[in-house]
Amino acid sequence: MNTSTSRTGLTVSADVLAGAAATAARFAPSILNTQPWRWRVHPDQLELFAEPRRHLRVTDPDGRLLILSCGTVLHHACLTLAAQGWAAQVIRTPSMSATAPLAVLHGFEPATVAPVTRQQEQAMRTRHTDRRPVSDQPIAPPVLRAITACAPGAVRLQILTAEQVLELAAAVSRADAMRGQDPLARGELNYWTSRPVTEGIGLPPQVLPDRPAQTTVAGRGFGHAGTLPTGPGHDRSATYALLYGHSDDPTGWLQAGETLSAIWLAATAMNVSVLPLSDVVAVPGTREALRRMLKPFDHPYLALRLGIADPMPGAPPRTPRLPAAHLVEALPPNVSCREERR
Ligand SMILES: Cc1cc2nc3c(=O)[nH]c(=O)nc-3n(C[C@H](O)[C@H](O)[C@H](O)COP(=O)(O)O)c2cc1C
Repeated sequence: MNTSTSRTGLTVSADVLAGAAATAARFAPSILNTQPWRWRVHPDQLELFAEPRRHLRVTDPDGRLLILSCGTVLHHACLTLAAQGWAAQVIRTPSMSATAPLAVLHGFEPATVAPVTRQQEQAMRTRHTDRRPVSDQPIAPPVLRAITACAPGAVRLQILTAEQVLELAAAVSRADAMRGQDPLARGELNYWTSRPVTEGIGLPPQVLPDRPAQTTVAGRGFGHAGTLPTGPGHDRSATYALLYGHSDDPTGWLQAGETLSAIWLAATAMNVSVLPLSDVVAVPGTREALRRMLKPFDHPYLALRLGIADPMPGAPPRTPRLPAAHLVEALPPNVSCREERR
């Protein structure tokens, strides 16, 4: 078993690193469930790469949603290690390169496991995307404040006013119409929403609503109906928010993904459902409309619907995942990182 010695003399094993990478890959959310990441396990570090074979080249040409997705898996891996008593240092060098890592976890040190870490790790195992309308119960202000507090730094969460929600609704339907007119975009969406469950990628019909929900802000149009009963609800009690920050580049997108993960897990622990609305940000024209809701120099990363999950039965099944062997590559123990990079 390979080990890496910390300042305290305690060691993390490569098996623990590989396990954390696999756990993160199993639970992290990603755009259209593309799982656009790859982990490489070294004896003393974990490298995270973007996976170009699962990049949505038509609808996400700059890779913003790909890198956002990689940010969620990075946060999930750090959380998994923290829940096992290991704090990691993270070097972030995000780019769309398939050969240079987006991030490297190293310098593992033993750390006390905080109760909130345990709670978030539990939430990681139950979190899922629910595209059905949320309940009529509004989110209590202290809960909303606790969720907003998960984005205190370079990436922040702005709760939208009633007027801004109407602007968001208009922008979402414009983005949807533009996608609908683009045959290449339709083809890409159709590919990722018609994979058999056994492939472990994309969205199977079981997680897609059987008809559009009665909502002010429409959910993403998938081009065809699924089999998930939508139910009678209306999103009238939902809260809408923008995740935003200063830099519209891979560094900002990776941080946004990490923050999205932190928000989503905290929300899950408080029974709040989170639904990302990403097309409205991926389409340049409507992204600009969202930008006007923010202060000058800020950029939107994602729109989010937040709401108390509807207690009605029929929650969507888990979206499938690729086997860990596809996503986690372990190097033989005698290959050092330096040798391997040559
Ligand atoms: C960056 C990002 C963008 C997403 N955009 C959307 C979206 O626009 N509409 C939607 O219904 N789900 C969206 N999702 C949710 C994913 O489809 C979902 O995470 C994925 O299918 C895995 O399912 P799970 O979250 O249930 O594990 C997004 C997720 C991420 C991380």
